[in-house]
Amino acid sequence: MVTTDTTRVTNGSNGTAADPGYAERKNRGRLQEIAAGKWFPPVVDHQLEREEPVLTVKNFCLWYGKAQALFDVSMKVPKSKVTALIGPSGCGKSTLLRSVNRLNDLVDSVRISGEMNLYEDSIYAKGVDVIELRKRMGMVAQKPNPFPMSIYENVIYPLRIDGVRDRRILDEVCETSLRGAALWDEAKDRLHQSALGLSGGQQQRLCVARAIASEPEMLLMDEPCSALDPIATGKIEDLIDQLRGEYTILIVTHNMQQAARVSDYTAFMYLGQLVEYGATASLFKKPQLKETEDYISGRFG
Ligand SMILES: Nc1ncnc2c1ncn2[C@@H]1O[C@H](COP(=O)(O)OP(=O)(O)OP(=O)(O)O)[C@@H](O)[C@H]1O
Ligand SMILES: [Mg+2]
Repeated sequence: MVTTDTTRVTNGSNGTAADPGYAERKNRGRLQEIAAGKWFPPVVDHQLEREEPVLTVKNFCLWYGKAQALFDVSMKVPKSKVTALIGPSGCGKSTLLRSVNRLNDLVDSVRISGEMNLYEDSIYAKGVDVIELRKRMGMVAQKPNPFPMSIYENVIYPLRIDGVRDRRILDEVCETSLRGAALWDEAKDRLHQSALGLSGGQQQRLCVARAIASEPEMLLMDEPCSALDPIATGKIEDLIDQLRGEYTILIVTHNMQQAARVSDYTAFMYLGQLVEYGATASLFKKPQLKETEDYISGRFG
């Protein structure tokens, strides 16, 4: 992870007379420079160095065909903490999240460079078993996507795929996962009814239950509340709060208040670059960069 000397980065050059563009650039914001194609090392809070990383992203770049969507992203996602990815639409949050469990493999034109590691294990090395890799990460999508089967079968789906048949184990995982997803009380009397009969908010908690049923090492969530009303959103946020400590969560959110409420760390991205990454409390109260402050206070984006 790159921890930067802010002065050097903000100036973007040594500022000598041999660099005629210096004075002009000095007056431009970092985000305008990024938009003009310049790359900056992210400003990273030292507090992150004290955390144990689950996911390590190193110099990661991604292209969709000729268009580059991620530029040299390096970051560590700490264990048992909630890390939020924020930034304006199109800045690459979903692309980064989907790269973690190699969902972008499904897009033909995608090319990557750089590395990602789950603990010590390379995610992109040759010969990685992608199915096994994905089992180590639970994914919760933007829209609830329960399968057209019963609540029970939805939750234990990952075990069914693994060939687990022992009814006692399946029952136990179903209950533990539904309790873990704060849905047990609402679902326990209708376990064998269709999951499609649940409300949107319940369906999203069911998807969390399914994601945690296989005891993943990491949970990936892409705007998990964007299709929910404020009450259902509150329940998912409470749930994330309960899962904190037990699970490592990487969550994309558009909602600044939500990032501030649910996350321990926040990463601000802009046009495919990681700009600032730090403890949520300090990033929202006193970000190191004026550009981050402008974004979180709604002055742009
Ligand atoms: N399948 C794809 N093919 C081509 N380009 C894509 C694809 N998916 C994303 N992109 C492009 O990559 C860039 C990053 O998109 P991404 O969806 O990661 O952004 P985002 O930060 O998640 O945005 P939002 O907040 O709107 O969800 C955008 O320019 C987008 O158009
Ligand atoms: Mg997105």
